[in-house]
Amino acid sequence: MKLYNKAEQLVINALEKVDNKNDITHAKRTVHWVKQLRPDADEALLVAAVSHDIERAIYGDWKKGSADPEALRKHQNLSATEIEKFLKGEVADNNFIERVKYLVAHHEEGGDDDQNILCDADCLSFFEDKSLRRVKKWKEQGKTKEEMRKNMDYYFSRIITPKAKNIAKKWYDEALQEIERE
Ligand SMILES: [Fe+2]
Ligand SMILES: [Fe+2]
Repeated sequence: MKLYNKAEQLVINALEKVDNKNDITHAKRTVHWVKQLRPDADEALLVAAVSHDIERAIYGDWKKGSADPEALRKHQNLSATEIEKFLKGEVADNNFIERVKYLVAHHEEGGDDDQNILCDADCLSFFEDKSLRRVKKWKEQGKTKEEMRKNMDYYFSRIITPKAKNIAKKWYDEALQEIERE
């Protein structure tokens, strides 16, 4: 797990530099949920989990939940390139680097089993922390109930595996209740 520890430190340092503690928590919780969904996750999947949003520390303010496919592609590719640079610097095995890159480059959309696990862990890390706060923010912004429901449904619909959907259901329901509350 030497590479994982170094990758985690890289992510923490990069996000601390831009004073983004939220995303440090998000990265660590994504790793936590990967381990819950796949207890035998290999090091490549864990490195991908901790670094999946690393571009945010360097390039910008892309926020999870954006439905813009172009923004999503850019976000995933930039993160994949950043972690690739790091792993090459660490002289990691080529197959290992390719797998991490492949996982990070699809973390928003899923695909094969491990990509789906990463995508779901990312969503769970979002749901547990932000779903309720997001609704409160939408209310302040004056969004209608219908708009809020649609957005929250979109977030929930992005979860792929039944196991992860089951875990997220309580936060999803809480968010829906908050939407209805006057
Ligand atoms: Fe992301
Ligand atoms: Fe994420």
